[in-house]
Amino acid sequence: MLRDETAMLIRRMLGKDIDRVMAIAASLKEAPHWTRDVYEKALASAAVPERIALIVEAGGEAVGFAVASLIPPQAELETIAVIPELQRQGTASRLFRELMIELQERQITEVILEVRESNQTARALYHSLGFIETGRRRSYYADPQEDAVLLRRDVS
Ligand SMILES: CC(C)(COP(=O)(O)OP(=O)(O)OC[C@H]1O[C@@H](n2cnc3c(N)ncnc32)[C@H](O)[C@@H]1OP(=O)(O)O)[C@@H](O)C(=O)NCCC(=O)NCCS
Repeated sequence: MLRDETAMLIRRMLGKDIDRVMAIAASLKEAPHWTRDVYEKALASAAVPERIALIVEAGGEAVGFAVASLIPPQAELETIAVIPELQRQGTASRLFRELMIELQERQITEVILEVRESNQTARALYHSLGFIETGRRRSYYADPQEDAVLLRRDVS
């Protein structure tokens, strides 16, 4: 799978990307800060649950990524992140569109996710992508403690 959209390339995340992906995540307070071990397990071909992990590259360098876990017929969008310099230029939306193509190919019918109540940027992204709120998990997150907002959308 290889897709080029206006000089951006979206491709599968590989083991060699983990350092850069961890650096991007570390630069973004709201992104999940997974350890190397978690990324390695997620990328393993026998990973349970199976993951789809995508990278968006610009100028030959990874500038964003998304990871979804598959629990057919559902997928959970676990993380999506873009470097600050390329935010608000449609990068995450492109990544998500590509992810949806992959999910459709695997007969996934619904994407779910949870997001910190205070993460207004991510919530605005998800709203723009057609996600609908389905509920809350009270005090789900720590540091600071706050609710998780649960969202869903069909794969179509
Ligand atoms: C959330 C995030 C991935 C969005 O990436 P992005 O590439 O900037 O998103 P897009 O440019 O595709 O935005 C698409 C739409 O989302 C909404 N949106 C995105 N960022 C927004 C912001 N800062 N304020 C308001 N709306 C915003 C808008 O509707 C936008 O469309 P528009 O620019 O035409 O108005 C990025 O801000 C990020 O990496 N945040 C830190 C990590 C994080 O919180 N990830 C989510 C939890 S894992």
